[in-house]
Amino acid sequence: SSTEHVKIVEVGPRDGLQNEKTIVPLSTKISLIERLSHTGLSVIEAGSFVAPKWVPQMADSSSILAHLAKHPPQPSQHISYPFLVPNIKGLDAALDPSHPASEIAIFASASEGFSQRNLNCSVDESLARFAPVVSRALDAGVKVRGYVSMVIACPYSGPTPPAAVVDITRKLLDMGCYEVSLGDTTGVGTPHTVDVLIKALVAAGIPVDKLACHFHDTYGQAIVNCMVGLANGVRVFDSSVAGLGGCPYAKGATGNVATEDLVYFLHSVGMNTGVDLERLSEVGAWISDSIGRKNNSKVGPALLAK
Ligand code: HMG
Ligand code: MG
Repeated sequence: SSTEHVKIVEVGPRDGLQNEKTIVPLSTKISLIERLSHTGLSVIEAGSFVAPKWVPQMADSSSILAHLAKHPPQPSQHISYPFLVPNIKGLDAALDPSHPASEIAIFASASEGFSQRNLNCSVDESLARFAPVVSRALDAGVKVRGYVSMVIACPYSGPTPPAAVVDITRKLLDMGCYEVSLGDTTGVGTPHTVDVLIKALVAAGIPVDKLACHFHDTYGQAIVNCMVGLANGVRVFDSSVAGLGGCPYAKGATGNVATEDLVYFLHSVGMNTGVDLERLSEVGAWISDSIGRKNNSKVGPALLAK
């Protein structure tokens, strides 16, 4: 029906920028978050408190958190600005006493190969490391979102059995994550493999309203894969303005599905996102231009050319 709401989690300022080789100026990152804040989006992932030796591009996340606290964008709706946290050191930064983040995200992998490369530990070790992060965050009143990466296949470990995704998803929910985002990190999913995965999760008793789809568009399948998620009852989708992005530790990973394309698609099937597509398209054009990247959205440039 035309009143059904879909939540979009904009990950451009984090997933979209983390892989940029040239350091994007702090002022550009802040301007991106501010501009996105006036498009109607309700969740904007703003950075990550990871080791700067691993992801130098995210090294200024503390400044972003501080800026958002001092000069909060003033849109009409409430916006959540989550930050990625890999360990207690990252949580300490996120919980800066003078301006703690209100939401964090932890990120595990469904495959051992990617866990080693992205977190420098096994899947089980990562879960053991995340447990105290989540409990301390929840004690501090901070919401925690969970990610599972490589949900379809992994460039290092091969195809991912849906049972492995079920297992990690359940553990993240049991730990206290309010929602788990299913990462097709390298965009190798297809409508069939995504359908099999989501049906396996639902059949295993994972409530579909706890799931989000986080699809990268490496092979151009992200939108159809989102449609499969939608058909299976998922109502939360992650995307990146202008399709920016990629993961530095995932061989061959390109950007997320473009938020402009996702919003256009969702509106076309009668879903409400709260997002002003024209404003969003302007932000996509601006950030692509600012960092000298091709705009990977199809819809944004088409709409602005009209
Ligand atoms: P490690 O090297 O095993 O960690 O890395 P360590 O504890 O041995 O520390 C090494 C150094 O890092 C030390 O500094 C620590 O202090 C420092 P030194 O003594 O050498 O100067 N350090 C930190 N500094 C700042 N903040 C921290 C922190 N932790 C340690 N939090 C670690 C382990 C987890 C830290 C590392 O592997 C890491 O940072 N990984 C993050 C990688 C990453 O950010 N990947 C991209 C995000 S995930 C993603 O994109 C997928 C997703 O989009 C979903 C999808 O698409 O599937 C979410
Ligand atoms: Mg990602």
